[in-house]
Amino acid sequence: MNAIVEQDDGCLAVGGVPIRKVASEVGTPVYIYDEARIRRNFRTFHKAFSRRYERFRTYFSMKANFVPAVVAALVSEGAGLDCSSMFEVAIAEALGVSPERMLFTMCYPDDGVLSGLGKRTIPVNFNGLNEFRRFRSFINGVDSSRLISFRLDPADSIEAEGIKLLGTKFGLPETEVIEAFKEASRIGFCRFGLHTMVGSNVTRSGHFSAVVARLVRVAEAVKAATGVPVESIDMGGGFGIPYGDADPGLDIDQTAGEVAETLKKMLEAWAEPLPWVIAEPGRYLVGDAGVLVASVCGVKRGARTFVGIDASSNIFMRRVLYGTSHRVLVDGHRAVGTPTEAVSVCGQLCDNNDIVVSDIRLPAVRVGDLVAILDAGAYGSVRASNFGAWPLPAEVMVSDGRYTVVRERQSVADFMRRFFLPADTSRSGL
Ligand SMILES: Cc1ncc(COP(=O)(O)O)c(C=O)c1O
Repeated sequence: MNAIVEQDDGCLAVGGVPIRKVASEVGTPVYIYDEARIRRNFRTFHKAFSRRYERFRTYFSMKANFVPAVVAALVSEGAGLDCSSMFEVAIAEALGVSPERMLFTMCYPDDGVLSGLGKRTIPVNFNGLNEFRRFRSFINGVDSSRLISFRLDPADSIEAEGIKLLGTKFGLPETEVIEAFKEASRIGFCRFGLHTMVGSNVTRSGHFSAVVARLVRVAEAVKAATGVPVESIDMGGGFGIPYGDADPGLDIDQTAGEVAETLKKMLEAWAEPLPWVIAEPGRYLVGDAGVLVASVCGVKRGARTFVGIDASSNIFMRRVLYGTSHRVLVDGHRAVGTPTEAVSVCGQLCDNNDIVVSDIRLPAVRVGDLVAILDAGAYGSVRASNFGAWPLPAEVMVSDGRYTVVRERQSVADFMRRFFLPADTSRSGL
């Protein structure tokens, strides 16, 4: 199942709204989100775990999609928010989310981040001991009511699928995590959490239960070393979705069953209360709920066929960044024909790497046709840039058979107003 549905007449629609209606009224390129799908994804995910382990919390990882309308839908379902920048915190606060329903996972924070967090009571997840030490100068030493976590590095022992780990930028090895908690408890901190994030778009069964088993084991070592029970165990995100027809996807029920089984076995001797178990899904909640709709602007046939669209890789960077592929549908494709042509879908940038989706089969499209790139709801619009001075796209959300523009297309005026020329009378003003 996907956000997009082909109607009887061959036209594509999201939540009952034809994409050609959105395209003609809002223009292209445009990201379209299906609110019902986002809500359904949350319920499926959260229920799978919480019905097996009561003290379970789902925090939506805002980095997958920070568009406030998307975040608001998840918050209203009961999701907490996993933030990683102060702008994400600002969005969460603007939506009225209380600090207890947020987490902040930091990674090489500057003083602005540390001081912003120091002024708030949001639980903080430290990437290392130095950050924790620096943080203390922003909270006058010790704040014993604050829940603090340290991040375990993605151990070599756990296979990290689909992610370039680039060494260990993230977290601390087990021994250093234990030392960090010892230091924290020595100076008076007494509310502890443990966090990790291993892998991205993982669809293999057994992965998350292995992650949780490691967290419980380290949590026991922390308790033994400090006498402080770990309150929360956070397995991070990484829950995979299928991007192709042959992809199996992640069986979330099976995954939750394996995690619950592991917890049951490992927490038998754990003194009450049991720890909160946390997951921070991003992609799983929003990935298949978004499509990117673009217009075909040119077709070049030769040794290889290029279909040029008005959504370039600066607004959809997934292939460029991660080498990923996506399903692409053509609106009204029955009028155009069955998929016969092997093509690469490219954008409008003067950049040889500007291939949005490579080597797929499409019907013989013509200029003016609409295409929909599926599963574009996570790490799509939020990674868009103004490369080439192309504008950021519009984004709309479909709810109850109607759509709302939830982010305006960037205008020339909006783009230009951030630039200034140095004072110099020989240059004209912007
Ligand atoms: C700390 C943390 N939590 C959660 C996520 C969300 O990951 P995903 O969208 O793969 O579930 C990320 C993604 O990078 C992350 O870094």
